[in-house]
Amino acid sequence: MKLSYLWRGLPGHPIHPPLTDATIGAYTASMITAVASVIGVAHVTAAHAWWLTLVVGLIITALTALTGFVDWLSIEWRSPLWWTATWHMSSMLTATVFFLIAALVGHDGYTHGAVDAGPFVLTLLGFAFLTLGGWLGGAVVFVHGMRVLSLVDEPPDRAAAPVPHPEKEEAEA
Ligand code: HEM
Repeated sequence: MKLSYLWRGLPGHPIHPPLTDATIGAYTASMITAVASVIGVAHVTAAHAWWLTLVVGLIITALTALTGFVDWLSIEWRSPLWWTATWHMSSMLTATVFFLIAALVGHDGYTHGAVDAGPFVLTLLGFAFLTLGGWLGGAVVFVHGMRVLSLVDEPPDRAAAPVPHPEKEEAEA
């Protein structure tokens, strides 16, 4: 066992991807409830949900970005994979800045049960960069194959077990 498993996860079970699901889920809920409030569907309730899910997303982002950053440090500097991962990082950090400003300037609207025009546009911009970053994150994994073991014939119990796969460990990016 390696100490780095604590912050990188096990081979075949990295920590960053499941955290990204929670982060993207929170921001997606935020975008949907912002639109719902602006078009008048459950106007006040949706505005509350928009701001709260935005804050939840920002909190989870701290862990998501940290685990992604740790994996990013392991990539060979200026390799094609590094460039794709670096564009992914830039897009996600840009999205985070938009969401953070939306939460800060949108707090007044939240207390009055409304999503104001400025924070609404910032939420939509954040979501656009989140989508682009998700696409690039997918390229890092599914095109470059980062942290993928691809053990097609691994028995299901062994594949699902929370144990490292020593036979591929060293080959992993
Ligand atoms: C809001 C923050 C972030 C989100 C939502 C996010 C999302 C994603 C997604 C969707 C993937 C593809 C994996 C999958 O499909 O499950 C991915 C992979 C990856 N991301 Fe991020 N990411 C974020 C921040 C970062 C940051 C800041 C970095 C680097 C500094 C980074 C580095 C990576 C790396 C290296 C991978 C390859 C897979 C791995 O190492 O686990 N990510 N990310």
